[in-house]
This record gives sequence, C-alpha cells and structure tokens, in this order.
Amino acid sequence: MEVDRWDCSRLRLDGQTAVVAGAGALGRAFALGLAEAGADMVVADLRLAAAEEVAAEVESIGRKASALAVDVSKPDECKGMVDVALERLGRLDIMLNGVGINIRRSSLEVMEQDWDRVMAVNLKGAFFCAQAAARAFVTQGAGGKIITVASHLGIVGMGDRTAYSASKAGVVNMTRSLAYEWAKYRINVNGIAPCYTRTPINAETLDDPAFREMLVNRIPFRRLGQPEDLVGAAVYLASDASSFMTGQTLVIDGGWTTW
Ligand SMILES: NC(=O)c1ccc[n+]([C@@H]2O[C@H](COP(=O)([O-])OP(=O)(O)OC[C@H]3O[C@@H](n4cnc5c(N)ncnc54)[C@H](O)[C@@H]3O)[C@@H](O)[C@H]2O)c1
Repeated sequence: MEVDRWDCSRLRLDGQTAVVAGAGALGRAFALGLAEAGADMVVADLRLAAAEEVAAEVESIGRKASALAVDVSKPDECKGMVDVALERLGRLDIMLNGVGINIRRSSLEVMEQDWDRVMAVNLKGAFFCAQAAARAFVTQGAGGKIITVASHLGIVGMGDRTAYSASKAGVVNMTRSLAYEWAKYRINVNGIAPCYTRTPINAETLDDPAFREMLVNRIPFRRLGQPEDLVGAAVYLASDASSFMTGQTLVIDGGWTTW
C-alpha cells in the first residue's frame, strides 16, 4: 500500500495572520515562533510598550507586526483587538491568548477582589478573546485556530494558588466546550499548559532557592521550563498539521503531571 508522504509545509503559516494577546515572556516566544513560521500579526498587551517591543522583534525577522493596548478582562476590548487586527491585516486566521496573572495567597486569606481579578483576566479574558476571534472566523467562513494558554496547575492543584489553578482548570474545560460547539465552523480550539518557567509572573517565587529546588525535584526532567519548550506546540496548533485535533490541551511540563 502506498503511504502519502508527510508534507512539512503543513507546519508553515505563510500568508496567515494572528492576534497574539500577551507580550510577556511566553507571549513573546509564541509571537516570534509564529512569525518564524510565516505569520503576520498584531501583538496586544495591557502594557503597550511591551507589545511594541515584541512587534518590533517580529518585524526584525521580516514579518508584518504592529502593537495594540488591550485589557482582555474587558469583552469590548477583546472585540476591539480583533477589529483592529482585521483592519490592519485584512483577515484573521489565528488567535493565541497568552495573557495571565497570578495572585498567590493562602486560601484562608484570599479576598474577593483577588478571586475576581484572577478569574476576570485568566478565564473571562480567555473566553472573550476566543469569542471575538470566532465571530471573525464565522464571518470569514474559512475556519480558524484558537490557542488558549492554561497551566499544569489547571490539571493538578497546588497550595496558595487556588484562584489561579481554578481559572486555568476553567480554561482547559472551556477549550473542550468551545471546540465542540465551533467544530461546525471548522474552528480548532486547543490549548497549551506550560509548567514552571521563570518569567515575571513567578520570578519572585522562583528566585527563592529552596522553592526552586522543590520544583526541580518535582519535575522528572529535573529542570524548569524554557519559553522555547512551548513554541513548537504553538506553531503546530496554529497550523494545518493540527486540523483534526480540537478541544485538547497539550501539557508541556517536564513530566510534572505524570505522578
Ligand atoms: N511562566 C510560567 O511558569 C507559566 C506556567 C504555566 C502557565 N503560564 C501561563 O502562561 C501565560 C503567559 O505567562 P508569562 O509567564 O509569559 O507571564 P508574564 O507575566 O511574562 O506575561 C503576562 C502578560 O500578560 C499581560 N497582562 C496582564 N493582565 C492583562 C490584561 N488584563 N490584559 C492584557 N494583558 C495583560 C502582562 O502585561 C504581561 O505582559 C499566562 O497565561 C500564564 O498563566 C505561565
């Protein structure tokens, strides 16, 4: 029996356009990875200067990129972000939302505003970014790719991070529900669940040598993550190579959740 040869170009994103929300350490890596694969994009963040820096890096590797200020906890700003992307890029193929916050506090001490803010940015933001992109995809009529960013702490729990881990578990299951609902529009909704990678979101805790050692001992590969560990998954999920995959979250955690 003849076997079709694998076409590596299915992993390319040439001629495609993306919104990358979140210009933090991981958002930057995702943006550069999608750009290396060929995508043009709008990079958006609460911190416009951070988005501008990432957009400039994307441009320096030859792709079209521009920056935008957005607060993803506000649904109208999620919609505005997609409208601007359509205006600047002409169409939209990929939405990757790498925005996230964490407020660490003992669960006996968590205050209502902590809970609400973490949920508003991590879960509500994830939903309304996806919805804004999906509405554009439905109008365009050619499908699209939505990539959520959860966490290994959306798969397993951990102390002092209950709102964060609940929000990320919400993202994992939201990814399944949206995937089911939007398959009829040929929209793939998949997620990436990173593990501890030293970035501004956790630098304070990871710079504590005892905590860091505990984490490294918890991870079978005996090291923390690097932003680059996640980029291949983002390119795959954005590309035609993942066209039959939906509702899944790729857990990239050095083995943390294996035991
Ligand atoms: N770094 C890790 O170890 C790790 C592990 C698991 C999951 N994650 C997830 O990966 C994603 C990226 O994290 P990171 O490590 O790059 O963190 P980061 O702090 O470097 O980046 C987060 C970015 O989100 C932006 N942001 C915050 N609130 C916003 C809002 N309301 N609207 C728009 N932008 C906003 C910040 O300005 C920042 O640029 C997050 O969802 C995070 O939860 C990170």
